[in-house]
Parts: sequence; structure tokens; C-alpha cells
Amino acid sequence: MASMARGAKRRHAVISKKMLILFSASLSCVVVLVIFSLFRFHSPKPPISISISRVVFDGPPKIAFLFLVRRNLPLDFLWDAFFQNGDVSRFSIYVHSAPGFVLDESTTRSQLFYGRQISNSIQVLWGESSMIQAERLLLAAALEDHANQRFVLLSDSCVPLYNFSYVYNYLMVSPRSFVDSFLDAKEGRYNPKMSTKIPREKWRKGSQWITVVRKHAEVIVDDDVIFSVFKKYCKRRPPIDTSKGKLNLKLQKQHNCIPDEHYVQTLLAMHDLEGELERRTLTYTLWNQSTTKMENKGWHPITFGYSNASPQRIKEIKGINHVYYETEYRIEWCHTNSTSVPCFLFARKFSQGAAMRLLSQEVVNHFEVSALLATPT
Ligand SMILES: *[C@@H]1O[C@H](CO)[C@@H](O)[C@H](O)[C@H]1NC(C)=O
Ligand SMILES: *[C@@H]1O[C@H](CO)[C@@H](O)[C@H](O)[C@H]1NC(C)=O
Ligand SMILES: *[C@@H]1O[C@H](CO)[C@@H](O)[C@H](O)[C@H]1NC(C)=O
Repeated sequence: MASMARGAKRRHAVISKKMLILFSASLSCVVVLVIFSLFRFHSPKPPISISISRVVFDGPPKIAFLFLVRRNLPLDFLWDAFFQNGDVSRFSIYVHSAPGFVLDESTTRSQLFYGRQISNSIQVLWGESSMIQAERLLLAAALEDHANQRFVLLSDSCVPLYNFSYVYNYLMVSPRSFVDSFLDAKEGRYNPKMSTKIPREKWRKGSQWITVVRKHAEVIVDDDVIFSVFKKYCKRRPPIDTSKGKLNLKLQKQHNCIPDEHYVQTLLAMHDLEGELERRTLTYTLWNQSTTKMENKGWHPITFGYSNASPQRIKEIKGINHVYYETEYRIEWCHTNSTSVPCFLFARKFSQGAAMRLLSQEVVNHFEVSALLATPT
């Protein structure tokens, strides 16, 4: 008993010393604030500031949802239900679509998407560097709002697996970005001509579907060096074109590289930022591993239809708590800010039927039959 009391006393002494430090720290803060306000005539209400952001902003931090789509958003009805469950002051939406494509009442069922396409979009060729350029344009647009503190890249076939508040808390408590990134030892995508700018040991591979903190979004947008190397040397091997004759031989010797599966992970490795990452993606993909000899294209994602989006299947995906990385013999146990969590917040590729089934399972929101029956005006 006595020793316990002593222990408690010692703790008390420590606490009051801490209080003293805290007090003097806050006193100096007050002094700094007073000096600061002397230099500004109107000192506004103290805004909320997030440690990683250099600029202060009013209101809660936001998550920027960045949709990289071909044209429209076929799953807008599901995202609408997802966002209805959220607080409008806590998210923002940006869409990169084909140039000239406008999101309005004739192209989307959800008002949340009206006018959300970025105005400087470019023509995207799948597997080309225009894809990563489009990602950078989305990030650049979203960085303009200082309240945006997390940036989630999504495709037109991505679905959320949880409600808004769950996703928001999961992302906001993590000071790290979620970027799937692993050693790419086997494949011949690395072009030795890059070696002066990108050494082979910094070359990484991983899913295109990333979630980054503001600091890393800035690194991606500010980069010119690595992007130009990718533009020049990371290209998809062109299909054989008989009209090109002997030139085909040369073209086929080219490294078959898919920029969006390497760019962000390699760039962040080049900046020695891998310690600030959860090295995994938040977006589940089901791979079709059965490839025919004729194709030899590697794995393909399987599209979920109504029949394979059963509650049991969704439950299984949500139950995954670790990922195995073969090339590094690494088991990644899924965490957000050191707390064990399910690995996946999103999944792809979902058809409209599969997304409809998610909606009826109340995965993202309470399902209101009346909302479906109500005719839009
Ligand atoms: C969101 O989902 C979580 C976990 O699935 C649940 O505990 C919570 O009540 C839900 N919140 C809302 C607002 O629906
Ligand atoms: C992350 O976890 C640490 C330790 O549990 C905690 O002190 C901190 O507040 C958490 N960060 C956020 C942003 O919630
Ligand atoms: C998987 O790929 C094989 C070969 O390309 C194809 O025949 C099969 O239909 C695919 N399976 C699914 C479920 O998409």
C-alpha cells in the first residue's frame, strides 16, 4: 500500500512539473500571439490548424475525393448515398473527365457532382503518362482548398465499403499516406536509361489507387524531374503493326511499362518519404489469375456483377486484415495510426448492378426505399 502511495506521489510530482512546463509553454504562446496580433490589425477567430499544413483554414479538415473517370460516373447513386451520410463541411469532390464533359442534371443523378469536373482536364490514354498527368491535375485542383487534408484517388468503378463517418475517421487519424509500394524485382519495366535520374533501388511498383496526406500531394504536384523521366522512358509496349515492318522489332524490345503503377511510389521513394507511408492500398481489387498463353498480359481485375456482390462476399472483403507482398516476403498488417483496422475502405471494379446490391445491403447508408421511388424533379 505504502509503495503504491509513494508511486502515486512521485507521479503527482512529475505531473506538476509537467504542468509547469505546459504553463510556461502556453505563456510563451500567448506572448507570441500578442506579438502576432500587433502586426495584424484584425486578428480573426483562432482558426483550426493541422500540424502538417503550413496554411491555416477555418472549419474542419476535409477529405478530397478525386474521381478519375472516362466520362460520367456510373455509380453516382451509390456515392450520393455515401455523401448524404456525411457532413458537407468535411468533404470535397473533384472529377477529371474527358475535356469538355460537363456534369449537370443531364449527365448525373447526383447534384453533388454538378460542375465538379476540373476545367483543365486532358485526353487520357489508359497506360500512358497522360494518366498520371490527370492525377496530378486533380491533386493540384484540390490543393487550392487549404481545408483539404487527405486526397483519395478513385476510378469510375470504385465503391465505398463503409459509411462516410467511418471512412473520415479512418483517414483523418492517420498521419501517413496509404500508398501501395513494393520492390519490383521480377518484371522488366525498369528502363536502365532512367538510372541517372532514378536508381534501380528506388524503383517501386504498386496500385494506382492512392490516398495521400497534403504534404505528399504537394510533392506529387511539384515534381517535374521524375515525371519527365516517366514521360520519356516508362511507356507501354505498342502492339505489333505490320505497316511498320522492321521497326516493330525495335519497338518490341522496348520496356513494357505502365506509368500509373510506378510513378507515385517511385517518386515518394526518391524523396525518402517511405517512412511516412502505410505501404498498402485502401482499394480492394479481385484479380483474375487465369491468363491464357495467348494473352500473356498478366492478371486482370474481375468486375463484380450483381451475383458476386453478395453480403457474404462483401463481409469477406471487409474482414481482410493483412496483405502479403511476395517480392519482399512482407506481411503488411493493416493499421491506421497504429490501430488494427480492416485493410480496405473501397473496392473495384463494380458494375451498376453490384453497386445497387451494396446500396440495398445498407453498406454506406440506411437504405430508403422511398428515395428510389421518388421521381426526380
Ligand atoms: C457508420 O458505420 C459504423 C461502423 O460500420 C457504425 O458504427 C456507425 O454507427 C455508422 N454511422 C452512421 C452515422 O451511420
Ligand atoms: C494517433 O495515436 C496516438 C497514440 O495513440 C494519439 O496520441 C494521437 O492523438 C493519434 N492521432 C490522431 C490524429 O488521432
Ligand atoms: C478470367 O480470365 C480468363 C482468361 O482471360 C477468362 O476466360 C475468364 O472469363 C476470366 N474470369 C472472370 C471471372 O472474369
